[in-house]
Amino acid sequence: MTDEKIVLTGIKPTGIPHIGNYLGALKSLIDMSQKYKTFIFIADLHALNSIHDAREIKQHTYEIAALMIAMGLNLDNTALFRQSDINEIYQLTEFLMNVTPKGLMNRAHSYKAMVEKNTESGVDIDSGINMGLYTYPILMAADILLYNSDIVPVGKDQKQHVEFARDIAGYFNNIYGETFKLPEPVIGEDCGLIPGLDGRKMSKSYDNTIPLLCPRNELKKKIMRIITDSKAPEESKNPDESTIFLIYKLFANTNETAALRKRFLDGGMGYGEAKTILFEKIDSVLSEPRERYEHLMATPSEIDTILNQGAQRAHIVASKVLSKVKKKMLG
Ligand code: TRP
Repeated sequence: MTDEKIVLTGIKPTGIPHIGNYLGALKSLIDMSQKYKTFIFIADLHALNSIHDAREIKQHTYEIAALMIAMGLNLDNTALFRQSDINEIYQLTEFLMNVTPKGLMNRAHSYKAMVEKNTESGVDIDSGINMGLYTYPILMAADILLYNSDIVPVGKDQKQHVEFARDIAGYFNNIYGETFKLPEPVIGEDCGLIPGLDGRKMSKSYDNTIPLLCPRNELKKKIMRIITDSKAPEESKNPDESTIFLIYKLFANTNETAALRKRFLDGGMGYGEAKTILFEKIDSVLSEPRERYEHLMATPSEIDTILNQGAQRAHIVASKVLSKVKKKMLG
């Protein structure tokens, strides 16, 4: 049974998701797909303002799609598709351009951040800013409105964009009468800071990530690289200050977590052993998904089939919404 509400989100294909991405956002999305009618697309058009290499976008698209499928996305309830496969998206974006005030775009955080950076470095304020970046929120509003979405799960950094989609829907409805539902942003529960190898927040920009579905020996190597203090094996250690323990907690159940906590506090366990325990835990949770992932990446035609089926389902809703909009705007 699925709830009536429609959940939608887009994932930009800009890199291979790491453990932080998964626990921070993808996992809850996969959980939602068990319960709701869900639209999830790979936002390849949104990647275009920063990536001008088709092969790279295509590769990352496969990786994200395969990862979501391998981690258990419910494909009965979910249309998983490429944003660029739905022709209606280009059309709705153009239509929405004409009800969106330019000033709204000027207020977008990501654009403003670029302008500030340019100002600080004394170059032209628009240096390095293409129109794809500037109108990014309009494309995103089109994404959200095209599928009658109710709930849009996003990270904190995307909240403003969902609010803009509501604003744009409101401008449209004011002029042309009730047409679009107003979507709600849902900001994922903060599952706490997920530390990376060096103890700082796990982030691609710090180069401290642990990939989610990498080969087993690569996972092991990464985990062995986690930075620790220099306490000797026999000393008692503070679990809450240990990256090893903090990551372990996110994969283990309550009993396992309590047991490892005790071993940290008791002393007698070196960091090397703690790392091995962490590796074995993550490996046992991820070994099956990893096999599914590797199989899919080796047979991209299977991914294409799933993405094409998703696009067909998305297109059914999109074409209805678009024709309503077109009729209202052009008669
Ligand atoms: N902009 C989002 C990001 O960078 C991705 C995205 C594109 C999206 N379209 C969307 C998210 C629509 C939610 C709804 O992560």
